[in-house]
Amino acid sequence: MKTNELQEHTMVESATEKSQSIETPEGTFTVRLVLDDLGHIYPGMIRYTVEVLHGSETVYTYAINSYEAPPGSLFDTQEVAEIVFSRLVHDVASRPHAYTRPRHFTRPLPESGTADVVILQGSPRRFGNSAKIASWCEDEATRAGLSSRIFYLQEMDIHPCIGCYTCYDYGYCPVEDDMPGIIRALEAASVIVVCTPVYTSTVPAPLKAMMDRCQWLHAREKILGKEVHARGLLIAVAGRRGAEPFICVTHVVDAFMENLGILPAEPVLIGDLDRTRDVEEIEGIEDDVRAALSALLAPRDEG
Ligand SMILES: Cc1cc2nc3c(=O)[nH]c(=O)nc-3n(C[C@H](O)[C@H](O)[C@H](O)COP(=O)(O)O)c2cc1C
Repeated sequence: MKTNELQEHTMVESATEKSQSIETPEGTFTVRLVLDDLGHIYPGMIRYTVEVLHGSETVYTYAINSYEAPPGSLFDTQEVAEIVFSRLVHDVASRPHAYTRPRHFTRPLPESGTADVVILQGSPRRFGNSAKIASWCEDEATRAGLSSRIFYLQEMDIHPCIGCYTCYDYGYCPVEDDMPGIIRALEAASVIVVCTPVYTSTVPAPLKAMMDRCQWLHAREKILGKEVHARGLLIAVAGRRGAEPFICVTHVVDAFMENLGILPAEPVLIGDLDRTRDVEEIEGIEDDVRAALSALLAPRDEG
């Protein structure tokens, strides 16, 4: 029997609200409305799942959670779930043949494209300072005998998060773009490096979009138990000198890592590039970057 990921790995305690058995010429079906308290993820979050079972096999699942309704909305998620429950009871009884084969909606992540060290390169400049730093990191991983992969976020199709919260229903994001490869790579990495310039005190838009879309990964961790076990390193460059340009960027990247359970190391912050222009011209900086990464590349304790 082919089941979907949610059924295989569900991490939450469920309570059945309603259940109805339907006898048909195609056999016995059960329609169930299950309530999950997801308050451990967000305060007051409740998920309603309506399932159709053919015998003991789940053939159809519909889920909705209380965070999907905007504030003050007339749209009540429990009411929606109850309407779907009654309509499914009616539909299964009137055309049971449509429910004899499982129909599962999901977005499988790619099997390939993983690496030990994943480098998220946030600058739109393919040959700029962040790109150079990313190549040093790639080389340092190779020296340590590890695989690495750089994601040039500017060149990828990454849409902003739409705040629909449906990732907490099924453990996947409905937005169609290049994110599945990133989600898979982050989940499998042992070290995640964010190489970025400071743009208007924070990170460039494509990197920010990617970070927001990692809410999907947060949902996968919370709903499916797919934990990220990586160390994280931020390497940021800025035009202006001093610590001030990095205040916001460090908060943003820390929040991204903390949300996913990635343990951040001390960041490498390189300022004054409006004057220096080329990071390579800063004496000792390549060694500093390599040393910061290499400290995270020690073989992991498998015990
Ligand atoms: C749109 C834009 C916004 C920027 N905002 C800041 C800023 O707020 N603070 C700062 O110190 N530098 C700022 N910079 C300068 C970049 O951080 C700096 O040029 C950096 O070296 C570029 O990195 P890259 O070579 O990896 O693209 C900005 C540059 C651009 C193009």
